[in-house]
Amino acid sequence: MNLIARAEATFKQKFDAPATFCGIAPGRIEVLGNHTDYNEGYILAAAIDREIILCGRACEGTKATVYASSYDAKESFDTSSPTLNSENFWINYIQGVVSELNKQGITIGGFEAVLDGNVPLGAGLSSSAALEVATTYLLKALFGFSMDPIAIALTSQAAENNFVGMNCGILDQFSSAMGKEDNLVFLDCRDLNKYRHIPLGNNIELVIANTKAKHSLVDGAYNQLRNSCFDAAKYYAQKLAPRPVTHLRDVSVTDMELYSADMSETTRKRAKHIITENQRVLDGVAALEHGNLQKMGECMNLSHLSSRDDFGNSCNELDIMYACAENIPGLFGRRLSGGGFGGCTVNLISADKADDFAEELTRRYRQETGIEPEMHICKAWNGAHSISL
Ligand code: GLA
Repeated sequence: MNLIARAEATFKQKFDAPATFCGIAPGRIEVLGNHTDYNEGYILAAAIDREIILCGRACEGTKATVYASSYDAKESFDTSSPTLNSENFWINYIQGVVSELNKQGITIGGFEAVLDGNVPLGAGLSSSAALEVATTYLLKALFGFSMDPIAIALTSQAAENNFVGMNCGILDQFSSAMGKEDNLVFLDCRDLNKYRHIPLGNNIELVIANTKAKHSLVDGAYNQLRNSCFDAAKYYAQKLAPRPVTHLRDVSVTDMELYSADMSETTRKRAKHIITENQRVLDGVAALEHGNLQKMGECMNLSHLSSRDDFGNSCNELDIMYACAENIPGLFGRRLSGGGFGGCTVNLISADKADDFAEELTRRYRQETGIEPEMHICKAWNGAHSISL
């Protein structure tokens, strides 16, 4: 049974009536552009063929009830006053979207919904961003307001920033909303209208290798890195005045080489990662557009090393997963993906070698660490949408 049919059947069973609409949103993988989004830089990402499904129907009143299949839990809230729930944390992603829509003057009434899907949870594939985007699509269909995909991504990001309290950039929600089968999403985060689909070809797959390393204090560490970047931007703004510098996006590799002398070592290295990473995204896109997968792969490898050596957001397990992939046939490049400190690496692979690659990487990583990793062989996939049931 496919995912939507399964969610529909669960809905009938839990709510004794048919669902009318379904919001569907994919997980995402960051291919290049690490921590560049909130620095108003460039990103290259993909929606993947693993999706969050939220099907439901509108009801009288302001009570929302959602059943989450993977947690076997039902939770309710009042759509006129969403309140953070510390017990069933997943409901907060849905409440966050309702709260943001309320702020925009869009009235959300009562509804019932079932949450299902196959985005691996806690693997760094942004199941939470996918849930926010799927929620926005479902509510748009149920309550009949209009909103374009960029505004949907922004509303979903605002839910994460303002309600859930995670200061993420736009990468996760944007790539979930804007994905296209066999393509990557290239975005200039300074102007969200400047995005482009970059063909990847249908003989390339993304092997996602979950290290199973989960580091605590990840959000605290993310904010620290973010603040370092903003401090560095302020520093360069003084050095480069009167040229306007609001974000590290405005600083070139040459500026960095000329003007970094009296910065602290840590801030300088973090800034270097962002400034050189922006260039790697542009180089990677140019390489792909010339069909040069080897060069694209090198950009990914350099990105990982820059995370490890300069930005400081890798970890032992990610570095081992990176090292274990060396010389396995079919590999073009690999790197950590997302915030860092754990989660997964993304490996760019010839599709015909993907199964053998995943098997060999599993074997090597298990041998090195004693940990059983998890491999997901994914395709670049279509972005979010809703369907009428
Ligand atoms: C997380 C955040 C994104 C982005 C990446 C790092 O996934 O949610 O906004 O900053 O980390 O590139």
